[in-house]
Amino acid sequence: MTDNPEVTYEFVEQKRRAFARTLKEFLGAGGRYHHPAVELPSHKLEGCEVLVNRLALLDRVKKGGVIAEVGVDRGDFSLELLNRCEPVKLHLFDIDIDRLVDPTILEELAGESKRVETHVGDSGLNMSRMPDNYFDVIYIDGDHRYEGVIRDIEASAPKLKTDGVFIFNDYAVWSPASMFHCGVARAVNEFCLKNPYKFRYLALQPMMYNDVMLVPET
Ligand SMILES: C[S@@+](CC[C@H](N)C(=O)[O-])C[C@H]1O[C@@H](n2cnc3c(N)ncnc32)[C@H](O)[C@@H]1O
Repeated sequence: MTDNPEVTYEFVEQKRRAFARTLKEFLGAGGRYHHPAVELPSHKLEGCEVLVNRLALLDRVKKGGVIAEVGVDRGDFSLELLNRCEPVKLHLFDIDIDRLVDPTILEELAGESKRVETHVGDSGLNMSRMPDNYFDVIYIDGDHRYEGVIRDIEASAPKLKTDGVFIFNDYAVWSPASMFHCGVARAVNEFCLKNPYKFRYLALQPMMYNDVMLVPET
């Protein structure tokens, strides 16, 4: 509930119905609103397993690798990457690192080991400065606009080892919570179609902000 007593469930529903009517009118007049992801041929999905959540996916990542998290926010998931994947090095990319508050990650950053490193600024630009053929895992969860995801993929692809894997968060075309055009599924499917990668895991999330892992086609 909000502080505004007028904003009730029914009020939100009225707005949704108004939006749905407007959208129908727009589509009826030939307008294009949503941006579907391209369909993939079956060989790109062969052997793909469905997992209960993204933590189960992390538990399947090879331990001891070099990992990048693109889009860090509070650092809650960075901690999961650290604990579950036990990377030799964890690189954290975010345009605004001030939101990073996880105490363990902050402690790692302040410590001697240099196991965790931050790269502050646009992730596409910062990723392009990393060595080629370097990462075992790149977890992409930064700018969710289609153009932003494409930029992150293009900057990251040369940085992955030949047996390295991509994980994408929010594999969707539309965000039901923020009514936002999420470009992840569209960008990921296009990348998968044009490049020698295939889906290995689909990790579910209750609002269908699912994760996918792409591995090299052998
Ligand atoms: C959804 S949050 C990441 C959440 C985190 N991976 C997790 O699972 O808890 C997205 C993050 O991407 C960052 N971001 C958005 N656009 C970016 C860009 N162009 N370059 C770097 N970071 C960006 C935002 O600052 C935000 O912290």
